Amino acid sequence: MLTQHAYKEHRAQIFDMARQAYLRRMAPYVRPRAAAARELGWIIDEAAGKGLRGPALHRRVLRDATLRGQGVPLQYLLGNQPFGDLDVLCRPGVLIPRWETEEWTLRLAQATRENVPDPGALRVLDLCTGTGCVGLLLAHELGAAVRGVDVSPKAVGLARRNAAHNGLDVAFARADIFDDSPALHGPADLVVANPPYISRAGLRQAEPSVRRFEPMLALHGGVEFFSRIFALADAAGAHGVVAELSDDAQMREIWATVNADRAWAGGALRDAAGRTRCVVAYRDWSWLSALVDERY
Ligand SMILES: C[S@@+](CC[C@H](N)C(=O)[O-])C[C@H]1O[C@@H](n2cnc3c(N)ncnc32)[C@H](O)[C@@H]1O
Repeated sequence: MLTQHAYKEHRAQIFDMARQAYLRRMAPYVRPRAAAARELGWIIDEAAGKGLRGPALHRRVLRDATLRGQGVPLQYLLGNQPFGDLDVLCRPGVLIPRWETEEWTLRLAQATRENVPDPGALRVLDLCTGTGCVGLLLAHELGAAVRGVDVSPKAVGLARRNAAHNGLDVAFARADIFDDSPALHGPADLVVANPPYISRAGLRQAEPSVRRFEPMLALHGGVEFFSRIFALADAAGAHGVVAELSDDAQMREIWATVNADRAWAGGALRDAAGRTRCVVAYRDWSWLSALVDERY
């Protein structure tokens, strides 16, 4: 019979063997090993947090480690991603929120709080809402009345779940922004969007896990989306527009297209990595210039 000490050692050895097996499954995609070990900790915590134990826990962790080794994004395995103060549920078929998006949304919320006397009275339209992350964070930060729209039924379903999950009252509707849907009509003070903006060439350079596992509908697009976003902002009588884009060259092309009549002032917002990340445009809301890192 094993002594208590020998039993503990035996268990530790089995745990270590399992751990090595998990890390080997992750190795083809997650490097260096320290990063894989960190992710493995999250995968184990998530599975254990669901109440799995013993062989069921082992099977679940082995499955997730294998999928991660094939490049499946971690957020689709864990099922969530923090976004500001929010916990955003993530599901395959809907784009995972990115840190760049979180960063500009928080900057926008702060500038709005500092410059708009009653941010709770604002009407915000979030186009191409995906998980709903941008609209939900603005509703949380400002108490504003937010509407979100996406063409994907999966995205709209998940955005609604995210509203409930975070205790927020945001209305999400399914609509193609190029259609003439009632969901796109009505006044809005601020229009925000993170539309699909990656070119065919850009897609070829994107990380394999993005290309293979995230929805093409959320990725591939160009200036046509921005023309439509600005047309909708015009129709809504918006004071400002903030929309995410890919780089300097796209910013120049978009600005020349959407501001041919020079109705808007504004420019480019850069992210913490120094990359051009958003077009920021305003009419009377000149305080939005606080977000402009390069004037156009
Ligand atoms: C880059 S993702 C952004 C998702 C989310 N706003 C975020 O920041 O994580 C773009 C979203 O646009 C949606 N989309 C693509 N084409 C659309 C269209 N024509 N009308 C409305 N939504 C569209 C996609 O389904 C996807 O959810």
